[in-house]
Amino acid sequence: MNGSEQFDFRKMSFYQIWVRSFADGNHDGIGDLYGVYDRLEYIKELGVDGIWFSPIFPSPNADYGYDISDYKNIHPDYGDLEQFRKVLDKAHSLGLKVLLDLVINHTSDEHPWFIESCKGRDNPCSDYYIWRDPRFSKETRLPPNNWYSQFEGLAWEYHPGRGQYYLHVFARKQPDLNMDNPDVREEVKSIMRFWLDMGVDGFREDVITFISKDKRLPDGIPFLPAINGLPFYNEGPNLHAYLREFRQVAMEYGAVQIGEAPFTSAKNARKFVIGDDRVLDMMIQFETMSADCFLTDYIHLPFSLRKLKRAFSKWQKAMGEDGWNALYLENHDHPRVIDRYGSLEYWRESGTMLAACYILQRGTPFIYQGQELGMTNIALQSIDQYLDVVSKNAYHRFHLNEPIQKRLQRIQVSSRDSARTPVQWSMETNAGFSDSEPWFYINPNYRTVNAAGEEKDPDSILNFYRKCLRLRKSESALLSGSYREYARLRRHIYVYERQYQSEKVLVICSFSKREESFRLPEVYRKKNTVLLLDNYPGKRCFSAGQKRIRLKPYEVVVLKAAAAAEDGSLP
Ligand code: GLC
Ligand code: CA
Repeated sequence: MNGSEQFDFRKMSFYQIWVRSFADGNHDGIGDLYGVYDRLEYIKELGVDGIWFSPIFPSPNADYGYDISDYKNIHPDYGDLEQFRKVLDKAHSLGLKVLLDLVINHTSDEHPWFIESCKGRDNPCSDYYIWRDPRFSKETRLPPNNWYSQFEGLAWEYHPGRGQYYLHVFARKQPDLNMDNPDVREEVKSIMRFWLDMGVDGFREDVITFISKDKRLPDGIPFLPAINGLPFYNEGPNLHAYLREFRQVAMEYGAVQIGEAPFTSAKNARKFVIGDDRVLDMMIQFETMSADCFLTDYIHLPFSLRKLKRAFSKWQKAMGEDGWNALYLENHDHPRVIDRYGSLEYWRESGTMLAACYILQRGTPFIYQGQELGMTNIALQSIDQYLDVVSKNAYHRFHLNEPIQKRLQRIQVSSRDSARTPVQWSMETNAGFSDSEPWFYINPNYRTVNAAGEEKDPDSILNFYRKCLRLRKSESALLSGSYREYARLRRHIYVYERQYQSEKVLVICSFSKREESFRLPEVYRKKNTVLLLDNYPGKRCFSAGQKRIRLKPYEVVVLKAAAAAEDGSLP
C-alpha cells in the first residue's frame, strides 16, 4: 500500500449516529453536532473505537440526509463546519475514529448540479445525471424503460424543460448520478479529499454497488416490480474500475471504506474485500437482516432462527481467514431488532442475548444509536404520522384491499421510522433528548427504557453491551479467531465457536421463551472450563465439568475451554 498506513479496523467497533435523533444541543428540538459533542464521552465509555455518521450535510430531507444538496458543508440544523471540526477533534482526542457517509449514487434534486443539468443539454452539468429521451407509443409519451424505483413508483421522472426523463433508483428527489462521466468521478474524489484533508478517517459508502449502470438501460423482467431494473445497475460493468479510482484517494490517507451492498452475495463480496489490492475494506450485507422478511422489511414473515443462522454462517464462512465482516443487527434503515428477532416480553434478556450473538462473531461490530439501550419500535396511529418516504409509499401502493388497521400494522412492524425516534437519555421531559418539542415522536416507553436508568443498573442492556465489547477485546479467539457453527439444525438455539491457536470460546444463544438444553462439545466439559459471560443476573446454573447446559429464556452463555496443554491430556 502506498500513502498512509491504514488503521486496524479489524480490532475496532463502531457506533452509528443518525444525528437528527441523537441529542439536541441548541434547544430547537432537532438533534445536532452540539448534542454529539456533549455525548462523546458516553460513546467512548460504551467501549467502541469510532463513530459512523449518517449524512450530516445540507439536504431537503426527502430521504433524511440521503438526498444531499451540498457535499462540502454541514446541514444548518446540525451546526456548521466549525462545529464539525470541534466534534472531530474531540473524538480524536478520546481515541475515536470518525467515518462519514459518502452518498454518491445520487444527489438531491435540489443540488446545484441537478438544477444546472435540468437547464438543457449543453451546460457543464448536462451529463452529470442519467437522462434519456422518452419512448412513444402512438402519441403517448412513455419512460425510457419499465424500471421501478426502490422507493417511489417508476424509476423515471419527466422533465419538461429538457424534454427528457431522468433516472432515480430511489425517490423522485434522488436523481442518480452518471458515474460514467469522468467529471462526476472527479467530483467524488474531490468530496473525499475535502473531508479526508479535514481529518476524517474514512467512509461508509451508500448503495455503492449501484453506481455503475448498464448503459443500454434495457427493460427489466416484470417480476418483483420494485427491483426489476436491479440486474442492470447492481454490480454494474464498471463498478470495480470506479471503486479502484476512489480507493487510490482513500489509500493516500489510510482511510477505511465500508461499502453498503444490498444485493451482493457472500461469494461476490470476496471480490471487493480480499487482499491488499481490495477496493473496499468491509461490506454491509443485508442477508442477516432478512430473517423475518422477504427481500424488504415490508414483506414481513415470521422470524426464522434457521434463516438467521444460515445467513450468519454463510457470511462468516465466505469471508473466511482472509476477509472481514461488518457485523450489525440494527441501523437507520430497519425496525428495532428486539421487536424483530427478540421478544418484548423478555426485553432485557433478548436485548442482551442479541448483543452477544453478533458482537462476538468474527468481524467489526456496528452498534446503532439506542440499540445499546434496547430501544424498541414505535407504533404510530395514523400513516400521516410516519415520515419515511418508503413507509408512506408502501402504505399507499400495496395491500389496498385490506382494512386500514391491517395496513397500518404492516407499517408498524416494518417502518424505518421506528429506528429514527429520539434517543431515550432519561425519564425527564422529552426523554432528555431536548428541552423543546422534539421534531419526531418519542417512544412512550422512555420512562423505563433510558440511558440514565440503565447506567445505574449493573444488569441493564447498556451495561451488557459494554461487557460484550470489552470481552471481545480481551480474548484473542473473539478478536481474530476462526468461526464454526454447532447445532445447525436446532430451531431455537444458535451456537458457535471461535478459535485462535489453542484458545476456544463457545457462544450459546437461546432464542426461545422456553427452557432449552444443549449438550456441550467434549472440550467444554472439563473442570477448568471458564464461564466468560452470561446475561442472567446472579449466580447461574453452569458449573465447570457439566456435560449439558440448560438455558433459560433468551439466555446467552459464553464459555472458554481450558487451553489444550492444561486439559485432560495432563495426568
Ligand atoms: C441506503 C441508506 C438509506 C437510503 C438509501 C438511498 O440504503 O442507508 O437510508 O434511503 O441508501 O440513499
Ligand atoms: Ca438542535
